[in-house]
Amino acid sequence: MSVAVEVSEVTKVFGNIRALDGLCLEVKPKEIFGLIGPNGAGKTTALRIISTLLLPTYGMVRVFGLDTVKNADAVRSIISYLPEEAGAYRYLSGWEYLEFMAKFYAKNNDELREMIREAAIISGLGERLKDKTSAYSKGMKRRLLVARALMSKPKLAILDEPTSGLDVIHSYHIREIIKKYVREHGVTVLLSSHNMLEVEHICDRVVLINKGRVVAEGTPQELKEKFEGENLEEVFAKVVKLA
Ligand SMILES: Nc1ncnc2c1ncn2[C@@H]1O[C@H](COP(=O)(O)OP(=O)(O)O)[C@@H](O)[C@H]1O
Ligand SMILES: [Mg+2]
Repeated sequence: MSVAVEVSEVTKVFGNIRALDGLCLEVKPKEIFGLIGPNGAGKTTALRIISTLLLPTYGMVRVFGLDTVKNADAVRSIISYLPEEAGAYRYLSGWEYLEFMAKFYAKNNDELREMIREAAIISGLGERLKDKTSAYSKGMKRRLLVARALMSKPKLAILDEPTSGLDVIHSYHIREIIKKYVREHGVTVLLSSHNMLEVEHICDRVVLINKGRVVAEGTPQELKEKFEGENLEEVFAKVVKLA
């Protein structure tokens, strides 16, 4: 299969707000693909539609060839989704949370142990996994949740703002584990970010979106050359002015 995610002319209307307006994009297997744009551009809406949590008003989405409306269950079985505002169960320790979540995926005890062991490594939280998640900083919680989203080795991991609001150390850790994980396990990653400077370091390809439409797409390098920008923030500013 040569396409991991195909978003075709997707429009989403909430009352009189057009959150997505004919969005088109294609993600290839095993790439880290970034949906980049300012707040309100439609990133979360797009990721929720791709995750089968929201129905498009018009248009079609396929995930590894499966229609997200007609084959929603099949799509759910091959993806994982990290919401923008996700919490971990605060009365559980990090270990207990990972174990609780792994039980949904593991087929037997060996697989369960292996999944938790791997998630613990991904999280990089070490001894702190013994503590209740209510005692974690925002960065630690996000690391735990990213580990949860990757531990089942989904064909597609959809990560909404995985590093939003985190300091340099936590953001760096999360970027590195995403990159490493994709290389080792062939997981396709679709992530969103409003931080245009950060995504250059992680994404193979990006689309810049504004007001629910794609305004530019390519590798970060291609976009910087084409629009003569020092970085993607400059590219975005130029593209939006031109559009
Ligand atoms: N459930 C909803 N009801 C009404 N408006 C919504 C809803 N979800 C999103 N929107 C609106 O759709 C637009 C895109 O939002 P969103 O997808 O969250 O953008 P982003 O993730 O890029 O910040 C915004 O104007 C937002 O207010
Ligand atoms: Mg969002």
